[in-house]
Amino acid sequence: MHNGAASNAKALDGIRVLDMTHVQAGPSATQILAWLGADVIKVELPGRGDITRGQLRDVPNVDSLYFTMLNCNKRSITLNTKTSDGKDIFTRLLRHCDVLVENFGPGVLDRQGFSWEKIQAINPRMIYASIKGFGPGKYVDFKAYETVAQAMGGSMSTTGSEDGPPTSTGAQIGDSGNGIHTVAAILAAVIQRTHSGRGQRVQVAMQDAVLNLCRVKMRDQQRLAHGPLREYPNKEFSDYVPRSGNASGGGQPGAAVRCKPGGANDYVYVIIQPHVWEPLANMIGRPELVTDPAYATPEARLPHLDEVFAVIEAWTQKFGKFEVLDKLNEIDVPCGPILSTKDLLEDESLAGRMIVDIEHPERGTFKTVGCPLQLSDSPVDYRRSPLLGEHNEEILTEIGYDTGHLDELQSAGVL
Ligand SMILES: CC(C)(COP(=O)(O)OP(=O)(O)OC[C@H]1O[C@@H](n2cnc3c(N)ncnc32)[C@H](O)[C@@H]1OP(=O)(O)O)[C@@H](O)C(=O)NCCC(=O)NCCS
Repeated sequence: MHNGAASNAKALDGIRVLDMTHVQAGPSATQILAWLGADVIKVELPGRGDITRGQLRDVPNVDSLYFTMLNCNKRSITLNTKTSDGKDIFTRLLRHCDVLVENFGPGVLDRQGFSWEKIQAINPRMIYASIKGFGPGKYVDFKAYETVAQAMGGSMSTTGSEDGPPTSTGAQIGDSGNGIHTVAAILAAVIQRTHSGRGQRVQVAMQDAVLNLCRVKMRDQQRLAHGPLREYPNKEFSDYVPRSGNASGGGQPGAAVRCKPGGANDYVYVIIQPHVWEPLANMIGRPELVTDPAYATPEARLPHLDEVFAVIEAWTQKFGKFEVLDKLNEIDVPCGPILSTKDLLEDESLAGRMIVDIEHPERGTFKTVGCPLQLSDSPVDYRRSPLLGEHNEEILTEIGYDTGHLDELQSAGVL
């Protein structure tokens, strides 16, 4: 439970993050750091800012949801780091901050004169985190987006149906999945710095993050050497792990079965643990299956899981997905109705916790996905994303700049 006495304190109080990130992978990481209490200073290109401010806009001339949902609790400064004054301000910011995070294309900061060696010389305590598409090797200089990482990290080849094309997931495992990995790496470096007194270079490749999330598929790739994967629904196997539709991927079989009234998301995903077979068979009105040799044990059911789930579906089709959820939970069967994005936005148990209302001066109230990390002594206070350059004066004052020249810097294109 939350400790009331410490309610204003945050886990990352005192940590300053120089946020040179854009699009999704980097901003998703720095938003979590901001929610955990870090002071995140987002550095943006003057005039335009993070390219997502203007992408997929739903309201004309207003920061897009793409931007507002990935940049909460941050401050924004505009700065052209290719100008000489811009480099000077950036150098002061490097001295001022603890962590630098960037996800530019390969070599961008080096081209601007800010190599790791240079950054270390400016601030030996700096933790410099980079997100790139790929780690060392032949792909290192290539740019990457979400689906490129999914394609090259093992996800697309293993997602989808056997007779369909490679498929990307709705979950953004290459971008936001990478962001979570990057947060873990940064926090580890912050802890190590408390002992070593030194910063360090942190690099997390999107391909590597996706591969880490495809661990069980790589498990199965090695199991293939010993024969077909019996728990997979596929009948034929080659020398790579096939796309296996909605098979559970774990040791317990599962499938998505249809419910009433038969719409696109009227399904419940049901998992059959061995010990729930008997109450499940009774609930669906097929008690004879408990002793039928073709159904009685997990081993017996394995070769004909299609029929097993067809029997279950004959029952689930009589009910709505939420009714099935309640009924199956009464007998402890792990299951999940397929929740649409609309269902999630309206879900009472997520409201205010994972679906959060944010006030924005230009777009009014919008909903965002909240912080999935719940810390009892570091509750998240949600604040809207900053307008472009909203904190220019405030931040420049903090790093000791004479803000009397702001107009000049602005007309020179530095800010
Ligand atoms: C996402 C990505 C493909 C976008 O590519 P892009 O639009 O060409 O942008 P880049 O990051 O390569 O470079 C942006 C340019 O803007 C410039 N720029 C950006 N912010 C700037 C600033 N504040 N001041 C001056 N210049 C700036 C950079 O210097 C660079 O110019 P250069 O190529 O002349 O050096 C690329 O950034 C990338 O591969 N990032 C790493 C992987 C990643 O995070 N991908 C997922 C994003 S969700």
